Amino acid sequence: MRVVFLAPTFPPEMIQYTRGLAEVGAKVYGIADTPRAGLPKELKPYLHDYLQVPRIMDEDDVIERATTWLKGVPVDRVLANWEPLVILAARMRERWGMPGMSSDIVRGFRDKQLMKERVRAAGLRVPKSKRCTSQREIREAAEEIGYPLVLKPIAGAGSADTYRVGDAKELEATLQKVRHVQELSCEEYVTGEEFTFDTVCIGGKPAYENIAAYLPKPIEARSNEWISPVIITVRDMYQARLKPGVELGRDVLKALGMGDGFTHMEWFLTPRGEAVFGEIGCRPGGAHIVDQMNYTSDIDLFREWARVATWRSFEANVPRKYNVGIVFKRAFGQGRITRVEGLGQWLKEAGPWCVEEALFRPGMQRRNWKNTLLSDGHVVVRHPDWAEAHRLSFAAATGIRLFAQ
Ligand SMILES: Nc1ncnc2c1ncn2[C@@H]1O[C@H](COP(=O)(O)OP(=O)(O)OP(=O)(O)O)[C@@H](O)[C@H]1O
Ligand SMILES: [Mg+2]
Repeated sequence: MRVVFLAPTFPPEMIQYTRGLAEVGAKVYGIADTPRAGLPKELKPYLHDYLQVPRIMDEDDVIERATTWLKGVPVDRVLANWEPLVILAARMRERWGMPGMSSDIVRGFRDKQLMKERVRAAGLRVPKSKRCTSQREIREAAEEIGYPLVLKPIAGAGSADTYRVGDAKELEATLQKVRHVQELSCEEYVTGEEFTFDTVCIGGKPAYENIAAYLPKPIEARSNEWISPVIITVRDMYQARLKPGVELGRDVLKALGMGDGFTHMEWFLTPRGEAVFGEIGCRPGGAHIVDQMNYTSDIDLFREWARVATWRSFEANVPRKYNVGIVFKRAFGQGRITRVEGLGQWLKEAGPWCVEEALFRPGMQRRNWKNTLLSDGHVVVRHPDWAEAHRLSFAAATGIRLFAQ
């Protein structure tokens, strides 16, 4: 089994997927723009061969170079787990006549307007939305959809340039902020709680499923620096309250023609108990959610994904043992971390339930919290009881404080 895996170096968890592929017996041909000499040491044992390209985002160029490089090598799969590269992987499969999702199918997971149209066409509940490329179109769409609404980039990630707009006056102010975005989606604002629905699929059917709760909704977490965003996987994900989300998730996969691999969907649970589609990608969620899922069941999804993507088989048992919370911290002040407060006490309180502590230490440069949910580090805590996992997560959110100067 020969597998081309795009960007085995970035984001850093791609090293884990490369390991998974090697562990299930694949020969991994990596392609990225990292110089060969700069490849992480821990990645090298899992790579069979490597091609450095000048620009990994230049699809036509990468396809040409890879075609030349692999002449005579019978490749079986082309895979990518990083959102910006899923279309490129599909185009390579098409070019080389390989099994896997076509670029048209993958576009349904990448283009937020197209995905909503396809999901809506299947009779599922989707926020009203319009694709807009000018200020005039946005004003017209706002008239039609009404307030509150959301303005966000069609090809967005990390909640960048995403705004809730309460009325026409706010719309004018927001229009100035999104001037640099070429294509926007203008949509009905859905009130309610927000969750993920994550899967590893074989032929569009989930071999693995997960639900995680966003506390609070990403749009709020990204609008207020003082918030420590918390995400908790729900151990009891098949409880009645969340059933509409599981059903919606499975139906969305059918509607979009999912094949093999990871999916990461976001959905809303309205106060009336209705599940509403948010968005979906045909790749794993970022920001350590795969680690959280692994901690939930003590499994290795990096390897199980690889088994699915190559041999179309999922072998792990997935007992849902824990609710796993991750808490991202943002320091007060700019520059370098100067001190961390409350960590010792929280660690004592969490005891064995804390499974990861990766907070920034004094001297480290703060990350830009707007650019990455990872912010200034995180802790991971798990517990069989939802209430206790929730309590310990929020104890970290409020009780641990980082300062910077
Ligand atoms: N129609 C909507 N109604 C209510 N909230 C919304 C709506 N669309 C987006 N949001 C909020 O904005 C957030 C970001 O939107 P979306 O997930 O579409 O963009 P994104 O940039 O791909 O996000 P990310 O990469 O953080 O998942 C959502 O998680 C949700 O909190
Ligand atoms: Mg999102």
